[in-house]
Amino acid sequence: MFRLRILICCLLILFVSGITMTWADDSVCFPVGSRDIKAPASVEAKRSPVGFNHSTHFDFTCNECHHKWDRKSQITSCQTSGCHDQTTAEKKAIKDGEYTEESIKYYMYAYHAQCRDCHKVEKAGPTGCVECHPKN
Ligand code: HEC
Ligand code: HEC
Ligand code: HEC
Repeated sequence: MFRLRILICCLLILFVSGITMTWADDSVCFPVGSRDIKAPASVEAKRSPVGFNHSTHFDFTCNECHHKWDRKSQITSCQTSGCHDQTTAEKKAIKDGEYTEESIKYYMYAYHAQCRDCHKVEKAGPTGCVECHPKN
């Protein structure tokens, strides 16, 4: 087990009301409750936003998903500038059966690759379109 002292300081109510999380020396916060993952604002989304709940993913370490996190600084969102913030797909996205480093900057590929592929591998969690993007 990694030795971070996890402090659940972000109650659902604070999270929902969007209050900024604060960080102390050896404590780290994570949002509790379901949060909606949305397409970047400039995209006209075809599908509904996707609910994500940290608490149903605690079998995994933070770095499984926050793979660039140095375990010290603040965790940033997937769509942080320069990460998975591209809003169009590369023409040639897949090489040797995997998304290329360039193509994974397209936010949709990043989420589909991470979320859906893990659910497939683990044989748990939603893999169907409507399971993740409920019909409005
Ligand atoms: C494990 C959950 C998951 C599954 C299964 C999944 N998606 Fe997504 N998808 C996401 C997430 C997360 C995003 C990024 C947030 C967003 O844009 O809604 C996304 C984004 C998208 C987008 C770009 C945004 C938009 O609405 O235009 C499209 C299109 C899309 N998904 C279509 C699909 C289709 C079609 C399927 C089934 C073949 C599917 N998704 C299955 C999680 C999922
Ligand atoms: C299964 C994947 C997964 C795991 C494991 C995970 N997270 Fe997350 N986390 C996410 C996703 C997805 C988001 C939403 C990112 C977004 O909106 O772009 C998020 C968001 C966050 C945010 C808010 C970032 C922001 O600025 O929007 C924090 C803080 C965070 N996680 C902390 C943690 C900590 C601490 C752990 C380990 C205890 C952890 N997460 C484990 C997937 C995960
Ligand atoms: C490293 C593996 C892994 C990753 C990455 C992952 N999941 Fe999951 N997810 C799981 C497993 C395993 C379950 C089943 C948990 C259970 O049933 O207790 C699950 C369950 C779920 C569920 C159903 C339970 C609930 O919380 O409502 C949703 C929705 C979900 N995941 C969404 C996502 C989204 C969206 C992402 C990407 C942002 C994601 N997951 C990334 C492993 C993963």
